[in-house]
Amino acid sequence: MRARFITVFLLLLRLQSKLIFDIYPDKGIFYELKYLIAKSFEVHDQPQVLDEHPKSYDVISFMAANINGQKLLINLERRRRGIMKACFYLWLPEYGLLALPKLPDMLHFTTDGNTESEEFKGIGFHIYPEEPMIRWRIKYEGLLKQLDEGNKLLQVKLNLTFNSTGKYFNYNRDLSLAVIADSLAREAWNEGFYTMLKNVDKVLQKRLHYEQNGQLTGSLEIYEKIDKLFGHIPLTLSGFRDHSFGTERCLSTINRYVYVALFLEDGSSMVVGILSQPSFFLSSLKVGYICSKDGDYKPITACNFELYSYGEKGTPPRHQNFIVYTVDKDYFVQIKVQDSTERYAGGNWEAKIYNQFVACCINGRHGHGITEYLYRHKGGRPEEASYSDPEWYKRVRKSEDDIEDFDHNELNSFSP
Ligand SMILES: *[C@@H]1O[C@H](CO)[C@@H](O)[C@H](O)[C@H]1NC(C)=O
Ligand SMILES: *[C@@H]1O[C@H](CO)[C@@H](O)[C@H](O)[C@H]1NC(C)=O
Repeated sequence: MRARFITVFLLLLRLQSKLIFDIYPDKGIFYELKYLIAKSFEVHDQPQVLDEHPKSYDVISFMAANINGQKLLINLERRRRGIMKACFYLWLPEYGLLALPKLPDMLHFTTDGNTESEEFKGIGFHIYPEEPMIRWRIKYEGLLKQLDEGNKLLQVKLNLTFNSTGKYFNYNRDLSLAVIADSLAREAWNEGFYTMLKNVDKVLQKRLHYEQNGQLTGSLEIYEKIDKLFGHIPLTLSGFRDHSFGTERCLSTINRYVYVALFLEDGSSMVVGILSQPSFFLSSLKVGYICSKDGDYKPITACNFELYSYGEKGTPPRHQNFIVYTVDKDYFVQIKVQDSTERYAGGNWEAKIYNQFVACCINGRHGHGITEYLYRHKGGRPEEASYSDPEWYKRVRKSEDDIEDFDHNELNSFSP
């Protein structure tokens, strides 16, 4: 989810730099990026060859839910040397929360460290485009732990198709100017900020992010023993996916963010994100949209969700009520948490992420969804997570640890 914020954030910086350095382009602020995306979308809608840059990344994620309460979250990030950061949650009414056994740690190794990965493949996953921008396949074969049953391990096979009309929300094109103005108006401009502005174009060239809504259909099979089929659970969910890649994660100071994705009984959905980076630039940035059943996106123009009134002490609230505005409508959003879990992101667990599995009601329409609350984490990555790391990775970590500003660099690279 963070990739979304990063892109929006950089676009804001660029807008700001154009304004300040007085070189506002005729063709509109977001013209170049928009053009790039339109021209080459299908090429991008597949696993990317990772750049030489040690911090190049390629991330896909899926979030989905349905009116029966089934909810899914998958996030796979490819890094150099076959490193994969993975998160997979499936919340089912009859099982509760199922999760990848290694969570809350997300770090996995899919090669011997000398070979690069070429696909979103490994540790049981294979996620790939069958037809770019239209259809993706999601497969997972392996273990999931059932949290309500003392982390009992279940052998599962997931086979899903993500099917879309091809429409997508493009933050570069569709972001409401009202939310931009709101964020910028709150900021103090200092020297670090100017330096950042001077480099923003360079950074933007190296990243791409897009997002698309669609339907997930398929099934989860649960095996009691390796061969004995125990449960066959059909899955039909509405959701969205996103894909982002690049080489620079120049943002080291995300303080908090909250991200909410809600899927309603009438097939519509709502995405709202609130980002805070007070020490850096934006103390409050709100982004998101409402999407109709047919894939028509309306950007939000305002939202009265303020970070300081929701979980500022470090624990996300169990109830959340707020109002979201678009140009032509107000939406009263009520959220009630059914379940919640935690994971850690970053090579040294620099961030703690809570995901809540929620029921919701928007203007009287019921639905389900997932929220994400990110906080900074200072405890480090414990031995119980790192003991199984391969030797080559331990060596790399050790030498990086010796570099004075390592923490700072590593912060730049973490990604939920
Ligand atoms: C997975 O689902 C697809 C589409 O529904 C189907 O064609 C395919 O046979 C399934 N694969 C497995 C291994 O069940
Ligand atoms: C995917 O969408 C296409 C057209 O939008 C439709 O014809 C097809 O049946 C859908 N497939 C699935 C598996 O939902």
